[in-house]
Formats: sequence, structure tokens, C-alpha cells
Amino acid sequence: MIDLRSDTVTLPTLEMMEAINAATLGDDVYVEDPTTIELENLAAQITGKESALLVSSGTMGNLICNLVHCARGTETIMGNQSHTFLYESGAISAYGGIHSHQLKNNKDGSIQIDLIKDAIRTEDVHFPVTSLICLENTHNKCHGFPLKLDYINQVCSLAHDNNIKVHMDGARLFNACAALDISADSIVKNVDSVTFCLSKGLSAPIGSVICGSKDFIAEGRRIRKSLGGGMRQSGIISAAGIVSLNNMINRLKDDHANARHLANSLCTLNGMELNPELVKTNIIYFNFNHPNMSLKDIIAHMRSQGVIFNDYNGKHCRLVTHNDISSNDIEIVIDVFNKLLS
Ligand SMILES: Cc1ncc(COP(=O)(O)O)c(C=O)c1O
Repeated sequence: MIDLRSDTVTLPTLEMMEAINAATLGDDVYVEDPTTIELENLAAQITGKESALLVSSGTMGNLICNLVHCARGTETIMGNQSHTFLYESGAISAYGGIHSHQLKNNKDGSIQIDLIKDAIRTEDVHFPVTSLICLENTHNKCHGFPLKLDYINQVCSLAHDNNIKVHMDGARLFNACAALDISADSIVKNVDSVTFCLSKGLSAPIGSVICGSKDFIAEGRRIRKSLGGGMRQSGIISAAGIVSLNNMINRLKDDHANARHLANSLCTLNGMELNPELVKTNIIYFNFNHPNMSLKDIIAHMRSQGVIFNDYNGKHCRLVTHNDISSNDIEIVIDVFNKLLS
């Protein structure tokens, strides 16, 4: 199968399996797992933050960061297309009593600065206190767009002038780095916390990392434990994560080139509503509108030819390139689509 559903389907590389096998282990709840400590130090160094914490998933990372930044009954501003709002089971309100204030995402994943300004609550007994602004980078639902550095810094200035923190859901932070040719520490310099995933384009089997100040991470560690996320010999996970950070970041540009080539090749086919200009990283969205064929038909046909991808609400589709999709696979996908739709 050529699996374009998500970069989460990536399997660990041989080097990861060897690193897992050779990892030195200890009990990480006692902060005694040397491999996890090494991963966390490396993550802190790469993001330019004081400290870092391994967590089981991006969802857990975003939840912990919201729980550390926001007291119960306070409010987080986030995009209406953000992963935290759409796809994290309402965790911040379920477990933190945190009120989400959703604002419209632009096509590029940003939220208009004026909208954010207006959404920040004034002091009034009727209002919740605004504690946090969450940005997503790259933005999954918004074509995998990387946020511009100027924009991130503008949001941070606005937030900090109003005594509000900024969290970045950087599940695909390193895709943003690759797309904009900017280092991770520059992107997250002014945000108060960031979560990035090891288990997406970086191909590790499990894990995300939260980075922030020493005090922030200390509190995050306490909350992680309370959520049942304190892991014991977690070096098994961290060993693969170290390989991710050392060896898998530089190759993300290949995924972006594959996505661009795929988008350029598919956009002229019958029924395809796909704007290749919107493809900046490893995510392609298209709508399918064909006079004689339903999306269900093409998904079934593609599957029969060994190509799978996700669709949403019967019209909207996503293709994601990743380490387990070679440039040869891309040519096969183009060929199968071509035979069906040209
Ligand atoms: C932007 C974004 N944030 C967070 C997550 C959650 O990550 P996880 O699946 O590791 O919980 C995802 C998952 O796809 C994502 O795309």
C-alpha cells in the first residue's frame, strides 16, 4: 500500500530500531532514564528553551501546556480550524475547565491580529480571564501552511503586552523550519511553550516533546504524572526520538518536494479542485467534483490499485507525504490518478 493518509503512519527506521535495542534505560518517573534525559536536553537545545519533557502524544502535550498556562475558568484563544479545537476531544475543557475562544483561521493558518486584539477580554466580572493564545505551526487543516515568523512575533508581542502566554502546537514544527529555511529556535524564540511531535514526519513510533522554561516544564512534569503520563523505561521511546532529531529533520524537504510535484501533476486532472500554490509543506488538500464519478468511487478504485488517502465529509481529501513514500511511489500515484481521470 502507498499510504498517504497521514505522516503518523510512518514506521520507525532501521536505525531507530537499533537505537531502541541499544538504549540505556532507567525509571523516568524518578528522572533516571539517561536516554530520555538525553532526548529532552537535545530538544531543549534545538528549540532554544531551558527545558523539555517527553510526553506520549501531541494531544497530551497540548493538554499539559494548556493546563500549566491556564487556571480553571480562564480562556484560551485558538483558531476554529486548530487541531486542539477540532480533534482533541475537548480535552482542555474536560480536564482543565478551560474555555476555548475560537477565532476564524485564515487560509494560511494565521488568525487576524485585529481579531485576536478584540478577543482579549477586558477586566469585567462577566468575562473569563484570557490566559493563553494557541498557534498551530504548520497548520494541519490550513493546507499544512507554515506561519510566518513576523506574524508569530506580532502575536507574541500582543499577548505579552496583555499578560497572556503563547503556546505553539508545533506538531510539525520542523516542517515549518524546512519550508521557511528558519531554525526551530528562531521560530519559537518568543512563544512561552511549544509541543512538537516525534511520531509524524520525523518517523519515530511514539512521542512528542514539550519545551519551555525550567519552571514551566517542572509543573508540566507534575501534570503529566497526574494524567497517567509518567512513563518508566521511556528511553525505549526516546532512543528513536534522538534518531528523529539527529537524522530525520534534514530530509523533510524531500517530503515537501514530493508533495509539490504530486500537487502539480494532479491539479489539471478532471474533477480535481486543487491549488498547488497552497502546497507549502507535506500536506495536500483537494476537493473532488466529477460529473460521472463520486469521491467514493475514486477512493475505492485507488485502494484497489494500492493507494490510500483520507477524505472528510465525502468531498474534501487529504494526501500527506512522508518518509515511507519515495519519489517512485509518487510517480505510481500520479500514474494511477492519470489513468482514471485524464
Ligand atoms: C497539528 C496537530 N496537533 C496535534 C496533533 C496530535 O498529535 P497526536 O496524534 O500525537 O496526539 C496532530 C495529529 O495529527 C496534529 O496534526
